[in-house]
Amino acid sequence: MKKVLLSSIICSVIGMANEYTQADRILDMQKIAQAMQDIQSGFFYNNLDIVKAGAKDLSETIVKIGPTKAEKENKDVYERWMNNNTAMTARTQRRIQNYAKTLVERFQDGDAVQALQVYNRVSAECMKCHVDLRKW
Ligand code: HEC
Repeated sequence: MKKVLLSSIICSVIGMANEYTQADRILDMQKIAQAMQDIQSGFFYNNLDIVKAGAKDLSETIVKIGPTKAEKENKDVYERWMNNNTAMTARTQRRIQNYAKTLVERFQDGDAVQALQVYNRVSAECMKCHVDLRKW
């Protein structure tokens, strides 16, 4: 009996840890915004390590972003459809990860102009979602 109770407590704790909340998403968005600033600073200070660190943060965080548990379980069909639209797609995540990798490579090769162009493509991905879907 005790064992059953304990394992169900453990399960619910693990379950809670896996829930992606809006607060988590806001925090992740702030992290990627900071990563973008770091990359830009790296460009301006001509510091490859800073560019690399920013690109790493961006890549690692972008994959965590998705619909919240509440959004996924929303009973309202229209709202669920809206939320699906605002969900980060795997394609967007892959694209941003590729850009993050490429901009480091270009900067490492001494091609700062190309690196900046790739950086701007990342910004465009961010803004596309914010403007088109969020109407910001
Ligand atoms: C697929 C859509 C999508 C993409 C792509 C996206 N965002 Fe967001 N962003 C959101 C949503 C949705 C919110 C609102 C978060 C919430 O309230 O749950 C948000 C909020 C934010 C915020 C505000 C966080 C706060 O403190 O309120 C920042 C900053 C931000 N995003 C930065 C970025 C950056 C930088 C990128 C690109 C590297 C990016 N976003 C890409 C959807 C997106």
